[in-house]
Amino acid sequence: MKKRVAVLAGDGIGKEVTNAATAVLDAIGRRFHHEFEWVHGLLGGDALDQAGHPIPEETIRKCEESDAILLGAIGGPKWDHYPKELRPEKGLLQLRKHFELSVNLRPVQAYKTLLSSSPLKEEVAEGVDLVFVRELTGGLYFGEPSFHTDEEAVDTLVYKREEIERVVRFAFELAKLRKKKVSSVDKANVLESSRLWRKIVEEIAAEFPDVEYEHMLVDSTSMKLITSPASFDVIVTENMFGDILSDEASVICGSLGMLPSASLRADGFGLYEPVHGSAPDIAGQNKANPLGAILSGAMMLRTAFGMNQEADAIEEAVKKVLEAGFGTGEFKTQGGKVLTTTEMTEKVINEIECELVSD
Ligand code: NAD
Ligand code: IPM
Ligand code: MN
Repeated sequence: MKKRVAVLAGDGIGKEVTNAATAVLDAIGRRFHHEFEWVHGLLGGDALDQAGHPIPEETIRKCEESDAILLGAIGGPKWDHYPKELRPEKGLLQLRKHFELSVNLRPVQAYKTLLSSSPLKEEVAEGVDLVFVRELTGGLYFGEPSFHTDEEAVDTLVYKREEIERVVRFAFELAKLRKKKVSSVDKANVLESSRLWRKIVEEIAAEFPDVEYEHMLVDSTSMKLITSPASFDVIVTENMFGDILSDEASVICGSLGMLPSASLRADGFGLYEPVHGSAPDIAGQNKANPLGAILSGAMMLRTAFGMNQEADAIEEAVKKVLEAGFGTGEFKTQGGKVLTTTEMTEKVINEIECELVSD
């Protein structure tokens, strides 16, 4: 198969980790006889510096002409003082809105060999296999009015029925294919938007009698994620809660650098990116963990292109490298072997190519 992918590396470690992901996907291409055409586009601070806008028209066009989008990360202190319409983050938000990427999947898995890197006790983190289904194009991120003066600041939280229905239905469909449990997270004891959310969850749950569901408040969910993370299967929640809880959950598997994500439109078109940001503190030092981006590549193969075997090959290769005791610098593993970004990428590629020899 031949596929065209828009690559928006962005800022900071975004460039390092997308280079890693495309190198691994090229190895998959060699092994399974696919051709990936990488179409590079500007996004974020890099786009501001080079084109004066965080998401130039040309980037949108390149994405429209591609079969999927692979993204690194955007943002950094250099652009933090920019007006809100020109912040790098605005570029990412406009991209999500333009392509109607309303369902954001963020799987979290505890890898056996990384259990000792988790700040949680091994027996607590063991067996965790959950997925966040985060609403991505509504809520506080996009509500109007939104402004501040020296005396007042306003953000607006709006949700329309159809926005909630779409993401909640997706979560139930997904749970049907997994452990058949949905935890819907809200703040219905305070927020009106959460009260509508709860009502819609109940309506949709009635269509899925074989899926168990629960309503949970976001504050106690943040506690349960740390005390009993293995009790979760599918967690569906609104935009801001999903952002915060997914970073929290990343510690279960030892590093934010491990988490991949897929952001999907109703027809299946999607953007694939690691959950982490541009990590200015380690950018340009060849230290970043590329596995979140590499695993986002696997999600792209499976979800966008139906390449299941190919996606499995990446995930297996990552597992093998971790099982051999390798990790990047942010892991606190005792006795583990610390690799740079490029060394970790080569290890994963070697695993994929080993299989090539034995195929
Ligand atoms: P961050 O995710 O960039 O970093 C948080 C911490 O995790 C840092 O200590 C960093 O070194 C570490 N970390 C993150 N990814 C890592 C990796 N792959 N390997 C090893 N360590 C890793 O969050 P932040 O520092 O709060 O934000 C920095 C910038 O990134 C901000 O401008 C923010 O807006 C932006 N951001 C962008 C995205 C995105 O592009 N999707 C996501 C989150 C944050
Ligand atoms: C993420 C990021 C973004 C978000 C920012 C950079 C706009 O934190 O993808 O998780 O809040 O959605
Ligand atoms: Mn985030």
